[in-house]
Amino acid sequence: MEIHALVTGGASGIGRAIAQRLAQDGFHVHIVDRNGELLNEAVAQFQQEGLLAEGIELDLTNQEAVEATVASLPALRALVNNAGLFDEVGFFEAGPEDFRRMYEVNLVAVATLSRAVASRMEAGSKIVNIASRAYLGAKNHIHYVSSKAALVGYTRACAMELAPRSILVNAVAPGLIDTPLLRALAPERRSAQLALQPTGRAGRPDDIANAVSFLADPKMEFITGQVLFVDGGKSLGGSGA
Ligand code: NAI
Repeated sequence: MEIHALVTGGASGIGRAIAQRLAQDGFHVHIVDRNGELLNEAVAQFQQEGLLAEGIELDLTNQEAVEATVASLPALRALVNNAGLFDEVGFFEAGPEDFRRMYEVNLVAVATLSRAVASRMEAGSKIVNIASRAYLGAKNHIHYVSSKAALVGYTRACAMELAPRSILVNAVAPGLIDTPLLRALAPERRSAQLALQPTGRAGRPDDIANAVSFLADPKMEFITGQVLFVDGGKSLGGSGA
C-alpha cells in the first residue's frame, strides 16, 4: 500500500533534499512550493530517478487554496513543514510588517496546513517542523528568531494536542546549512558564522534530510514534542552570534 507524504518548500534547498530522501524511503511525496519553475525542475529530477513525486504550485499563505489542496490528496502519513522565510533586519529597523511577513509563513501557514492535514491523519502519522537553531537567540534576525521560537512552542503544543490520536509531532533545528538562504547573508556575516562552527563546516541539506527521515519513519512510534538539533554542535556553545 502506498504511503503519502507532503513536504513544503521542497523545490529548493533543505526541502528538496527532504523530499528526495522521503521518496527514497518509500513515501509517495507531494511537494508544495510557490516557485513553479524550481518545483517542476525538482519533480522532473525525482521522477527521472524513479521516485514517486508530484509537485503542487501553491502559496502556503493562501488558506483556501491550502485547504482545497489537502482535501484533494489522500490521507498523509507524514507532513514536513519546511517552507520558511529568512532575512536580516536590525532590532530598531524591524517593524510590525517584518514580523507579520515572517510569522505568516513560518508560523500561521504551518498551523493552517497542519490543522487541515492532521484532521485526516491516521494513528502513527508524523508531523515534522523545520525550526532553526537560531530560535535560541541570534542577532539581526529578531523577526525570524521569534517566529522560529514560536514554531517550537507550536510543535510542543501540537504534540500534546495530537498525542491522543497517536500523531507524533517533532521539530528539527538546523544550524548553518549551505543553501540559497544562507547565501543571502552578507559575505562578512557568512564567514563569521562559519568560523563559529565546532565541526568546521556548514551542514548540508542531506544532514537535515537524515534527521527528518528518522522522525517521519513509520517505525518511529514513541518520540513526540522534541526538538532535534542538527547543527554540528553549535548549540553546545549557547546562543551564538
Ligand atoms: P530556501 O529559501 O532554499 O527554500 C525555501 C523554499 O520554501 C523555497 O523553495 C520557497 O519558494 C519556498 N517557500 C517560501 N515561502 C513559501 C510560501 N509562502 N508558499 C510556498 N512555498 C514557499 O530555504 P532553506 O535554506 O532550504 O530553508 C528551509 C527551512 O530550513 C526554512 O524553514 C529555514 O528557516 C530553515 N533553516 C535553514 C537554515 C539554513 O542555514 N539554510 C538554518 C536553519 C533553519
